[in-house]
Amino acid sequence: MTARILDGAKIRDQIFVELKDEVRLLTSAGVRPGLAAVLVGDNPASQLYVKSKIAACEQLGLASALLTPPATVNTLDLLAVIEDLNRDNEVDGILVQLPLPTQVDTKRILEAVDPSKDVDGFHPVNLGRLVSGRPGLVACTPAGCMEILRRNDIPIEGANAVVLGRSDIVGKPMALLLMHANTTVTICHSKTRDLPEVVRHADIIVAAMGKAGFVEASWIKPGAAVIDVGTNRVTDAKGAERLFRNFPERLEKFRAKGNALVGDVHPDALNVAGALTPVPGGVGPMTITMLMSNTVKAARLRRASPRFSATQSIAGAR
Ligand code: GUN
Repeated sequence: MTARILDGAKIRDQIFVELKDEVRLLTSAGVRPGLAAVLVGDNPASQLYVKSKIAACEQLGLASALLTPPATVNTLDLLAVIEDLNRDNEVDGILVQLPLPTQVDTKRILEAVDPSKDVDGFHPVNLGRLVSGRPGLVACTPAGCMEILRRNDIPIEGANAVVLGRSDIVGKPMALLLMHANTTVTICHSKTRDLPEVVRHADIIVAAMGKAGFVEASWIKPGAAVIDVGTNRVTDAKGAERLFRNFPERLEKFRAKGNALVGDVHPDALNVAGALTPVPGGVGPMTITMLMSNTVKAARLRRASPRFSATQSIAGAR
């Protein structure tokens, strides 16, 4: 039996319909949500990501601004850019595209973003809120994985979940979200002993360690739900042969193109898992979707709340 495909693009489309309605309502109430993207230097991959994020804003009716400091920018100058955006009331979300150049203190920059505008969910205040189960802005990729599970009615409560990878951006917040949703979570990493055996107990597997096809089909419990966060570009023929041994069409495509995109889970998992996110087209589309959702949420919480009106009138009276 082959796994049910958990289609990220389909869920993105559903969420976009919901967000469009919310943006229309907010805008008609005088609050047009706005995202400011800070793109430092000229990294082609970062340029492509930011372009897609701005395009998504346009599609949903959000205001957007793109700031492009040069690759030579220093920490203090970039802090001044962030401070300006923190003060700008039209800006609800601030996105600092990573990685930043090595001379910039990335942690200091991320900590300078106003937590109420931290639509990437990277600020320690938002991470702390997540740890203690308080409402806040949650990192986009793990939030997107939860949407995939929920909107496909994957049983979560009481399930055994295994998260592979412990990054601040994906693994750790993912484990916290799953724990708050009442799964029993195990976080695995490069030093985990007998990894295949640990993974075999999982009803839900989230693979986010950035190694092409690392999770073997034989490790997966039949029927498990597999969320594959990895996006790895394979360029060596030996690697492609190992990954696509049962997928002649994918191998042919690789040979024609010279490269292929694969997740952290071996493609053979398709014949063992109960449900599976494809790469590409699974988790990928959800990251931008949740960035849009966080921006709308930030606008709603920051500007459409009664506290906002009170602050405004006090400020206006001065
Ligand atoms: N670089 C790679 N992924 C991300 C992301 O999710 N957010 C930001 N800001 N930069 C990234």
